[in-house]
Amino acid sequence: MIPDDKKEEVRDAADIVDVVSDHVKLRRAGSNFSGLCPFHNEKTPSFSVSPSLGIYKCFGCGEGGDVFDFVMKMDGVGFEEAVRTLAERYHIVIPEKAETAYDPQQFLKDGIYHALRFAGNFFHQTLAESDEAETAREYLKNRGYPWKTVRKYGIGYAPDRFDGLLKAAESAGINLQYLHESGLVKAREDESGYFDTFRGRLMFPIFNPSGKVIAFGGRTLSKAASIPKYINSPQTLVYNKSEVLYGIHAAKNEIRKAAEVILVEGYTDVITMQQSGIGNVVSTSGTSLTAGQVRVMKRYGDVLLMIFDADTAGVKAAVRGISIALQEGMAVRVLTLPEGEDPDSFVREYGAEAFLEVRKKETVDFLRFLVTLARKEDRWDDPVERRKVINEILEAIAVVPDELSRANYIQELNSISRIGDRALIQELDVIRTRLERTRRRMDQRASQRAGREREDARRGYPGGPGAPPASGTARPDPGHPAGSNRESGPDAGEGRRPEAKPDPESRRGPGAKAAHGSNPGPGANPETASPPETHTGSAGRAGPQPPHQESRPHDPRGLDPRPHHPRGLDPRPHDSRPYDLRPHDPRAQAPFPDPDARSVRRPEDEKELIRLMLTFGERLIVFIGNHCGDVHFEDPELRAFYVDMMQQYQKGEPVSVEAYSRREHPYPGLVGDIVLQRHWVSELGMRKRGVTIHRDADPVNTARGALKSLKIRYLERKRNEFLDEYAQASDKEKKEVQQWIKKANEELRRHRTDSTEILFPDL
Ligand code: UTP
Ligand code: MN
Repeated sequence: MIPDDKKEEVRDAADIVDVVSDHVKLRRAGSNFSGLCPFHNEKTPSFSVSPSLGIYKCFGCGEGGDVFDFVMKMDGVGFEEAVRTLAERYHIVIPEKAETAYDPQQFLKDGIYHALRFAGNFFHQTLAESDEAETAREYLKNRGYPWKTVRKYGIGYAPDRFDGLLKAAESAGINLQYLHESGLVKAREDESGYFDTFRGRLMFPIFNPSGKVIAFGGRTLSKAASIPKYINSPQTLVYNKSEVLYGIHAAKNEIRKAAEVILVEGYTDVITMQQSGIGNVVSTSGTSLTAGQVRVMKRYGDVLLMIFDADTAGVKAAVRGISIALQEGMAVRVLTLPEGEDPDSFVREYGAEAFLEVRKKETVDFLRFLVTLARKEDRWDDPVERRKVINEILEAIAVVPDELSRANYIQELNSISRIGDRALIQELDVIRTRLERTRRRMDQRASQRAGREREDARRGYPGGPGAPPASGTARPDPGHPAGSNRESGPDAGEGRRPEAKPDPESRRGPGAKAAHGSNPGPGANPETASPPETHTGSAGRAGPQPPHQESRPHDPRGLDPRPHHPRGLDPRPHDSRPYDLRPHDPRAQAPFPDPDARSVRRPEDEKELIRLMLTFGERLIVFIGNHCGDVHFEDPELRAFYVDMMQQYQKGEPVSVEAYSRREHPYPGLVGDIVLQRHWVSELGMRKRGVTIHRDADPVNTARGALKSLKIRYLERKRNEFLDEYAQASDKEKKEVQQWIKKANEELRRHRTDSTEILFPDL
């Protein structure tokens, strides 16, 4: 038993916000924090954490408790282990375990962790002290890693012997079974004993988010091409490659702050970047990105910046990763570094400042990246090839769970490809229908398989998920190990557990389990694994259907022959990327100009649209978002508000009066102006006079009115701009400007005369 005072000490030391944040993306809400409940599926946050009380509570499913309850529930462990996990994390020493209920699986895991930690210390100490490691120390110094960095990342050196670690572990009394289960040693063929997995290598420990060593990557110092550059720990009970990100332990808070995660390729890229002050960086261990890894990222932030060097291997990996990240609901951007540079070499050579600069200049969203790639491959100028490229891009857009994002991507693709958004939407529909059909078939097959397995188990066949498939009855493997593409050489695959081993992670919380229901397991190929599933966040939205072609307000009369709408006359703001989420987008970052510097009279129609979105949520957000863009808002603060609401909506965050009343300055003030002033006052007055108002009986119709007024004012502003331009134009230009003015007038006439239902059809 753990003494009570120790428990209290741990409870005091543990920061519940920090602990919960490993699993839930929290945002501050007054003195509390809130987020999406990890214990049930929800799309608006009802999960709340009170740091002052040290408790959490979900108002949706009723789950609640203190920091110990949370760890028990989340990790699927008992009280005692929860206390010990937290004690370890917060460096509190607890007397050795007394007799507790014997859980063999847990026992094994604890043993493995222990062995891994021992090995980490051993390798590190070897690097620090042994003569043999002189070259390794020299190497690290030459790469620009001071000892501080080496320490921070626990870098070590494995002696070039078959029994370096083995001997040390033996004399320290480490159980060899654990050492073996952790992948650090392998059994000899003749079963006469074990030998070290890692020999003569620089060792990079891999940590889980809470800082425990779970695996190693070992880099050779030899330049011989016959030797694999890296070998990595095999899959073990505590190391599921497809859910691990190197660097996450150090990066998680930075990711949260930046709301963005940078994905690089290698261990050294992570270390060099983090060391240079760019902290929100992680990498896979040489594997292509998996859905499981993206889900881990998404706990901390939902914009993904992928960095690749210009070589083809990197690019190929990028394209696969993009689709997986999109499917999980992340916004994806890509930064391609100059040929021959990886982030590590770039930052070392030019510094972090230069990196930030390049990043600002060269980062593109995934769509532009794919188009640029096609251009480089000469596939864009050839009409047939271009069609194929566009289809590939549509395939990527099709997996985006959020319909508003899909609509925006289509807009962007249209503005690049000039194919016309009707055609694009139609094509997208076809792809989505096909995906949906495939998904259903796969679900069906999965449930059939589960049924068969149940049946097998009933009849006592060894075919259950816990046993390797018997050769006669073997069913097609759902996929090859996701993470094998970079691992080469004789060592790489050895010691890997059979595919059918029980997935240790599937024992985790009910949330994890439910969310992965149809996932074929840790070895599944991410590309064939069950696509659009309902997980918390935007994917589960059961909102209106994506804007459909017939109902599209897009240029119904073919009024605009110019494909690019460079003058912003298209009813839909193609060229403005209205809800661009780039964090370095100045609009998104510092959207609010000095509030005192301007008059506070804000256009009523703009306020009305925002009020409707705040009051009615999703339905009106989608409707309004599909009929206007931020360019249409004249008032800069309201425009910023609009952009922010769209972003919140896309992130699955609440968009409501209540939510914005709790936000930072100037939101509460704006909400007051928008919601209270006019309507509230006049409503009160009306009610006094005995009139009940049905103003919001049909909010969509109310929105139409406001949209009409908004668009007309916008078109008037545009026309005036053109008139000014006309006055200053040269004779040659005058002709063209005249065209714009004519176009603006036509649009104006259309907006004034057509009914609002025709202008802004329901979707
Ligand atoms: P790189 O070859 O780019 O190595 O592989 P690196 O990280 O830049 O290492 P340095 O800078 O040369 O020291 C990128 C990542 O791919 C995995 C490793 O995780 C590596 O960090 N990898 C690479 C392997 O797993 N096995 C290999 O043989 C090579
Ligand atoms: Mn490198």
